[in-house]
Amino acid sequence: MKHLLSAGDLDRDQAVKILDTAGELAAVASRPVKKLPTLRGRTVVNLFFEDSTRTRISFEAAAKRLSADVINFAAKGSSVSKGESLKDTALTLEAMGADAVVIRHGASGAPHRLATSGWINGVVINAGDGSHEHPTQALLDAYTIRRNLVGPTGDLAGVRVTIVGDVLHSRVARSNVLLLDTLGADVTLVAPPTLLPVGVETWPCEVSYELDQPLTATDAVMMLRVQRERMNASYFPSEREYSRRYGLNADRLAMLTGSAIVLHPGPMNRGMEITADVADSQRSVIIEQVGNGVLVRMAVLYLLLGGAPTQREVSR
Ligand code: CP
Repeated sequence: MKHLLSAGDLDRDQAVKILDTAGELAAVASRPVKKLPTLRGRTVVNLFFEDSTRTRISFEAAAKRLSADVINFAAKGSSVSKGESLKDTALTLEAMGADAVVIRHGASGAPHRLATSGWINGVVINAGDGSHEHPTQALLDAYTIRRNLVGPTGDLAGVRVTIVGDVLHSRVARSNVLLLDTLGADVTLVAPPTLLPVGVETWPCEVSYELDQPLTATDAVMMLRVQRERMNASYFPSEREYSRRYGLNADRLAMLTGSAIVLHPGPMNRGMEITADVADSQRSVIIEQVGNGVLVRMAVLYLLLGGAPTQREVSR
């Protein structure tokens, strides 16, 4: 695999390899000096046409921990605002010697275009494209679920994951369904009919319009942000009604059984899809997800650019 464009591009062995590598790199993250020399002399460009906090910062941290040179490019403040095209931006990065381009773009398919255009020779990693995919988010979610529920090298087969909310606009939901299915987990999507995409019945998951019953039989519940910035119509009667039917609050948290965990990719609308007390509760692994994002993105860069870490590097 040269690029990482879709969670659906990964077969089970490739996905497990990334999760296992992230687990090995966790040992590095706990050392006083968190750096490995693996990508010394390589250049990673973070090419962000859409806002980001977690993804951009964690890709930067991941690349720096692997000793790569990092160039951060934000469309705001660049010549994109003067009308420069994706092609000319890409050709500029190629001229600067980019070995990997991590791209976030509002247009679904932009990373695919970059990878197949011939404009650049380096690796392309999709950091979120429109409402399409966000594969490294799905990988860090799977990594987090695995560590919490089945152990660092455990099998996710049969683990029940419920994904709740604005599936229609969510690249996180699509990538998670694809990856979790590949890993053998059982996924249920919960959303109002208006916030489900056309063709969702062909996705490898169950669909419910009602939250309470799935909650009583899940091992992990992932709340999705209501993406108001992508909404050009009214998809539900009111925010209050949405929260009442699809929000995760203390009463619903009490329906979870066993060691079930709560995830959210962030950024959260506290008080909308999740209440503050639930987001900060013992079952919440939301902050852990952010830390795991660095490990998983290190693993992706490592495997796409540098090969697997040697035992000597990991245990130094
Ligand atoms: N989860 C996620 O993609 O967050 P950011 O938009 O902050 O990168």
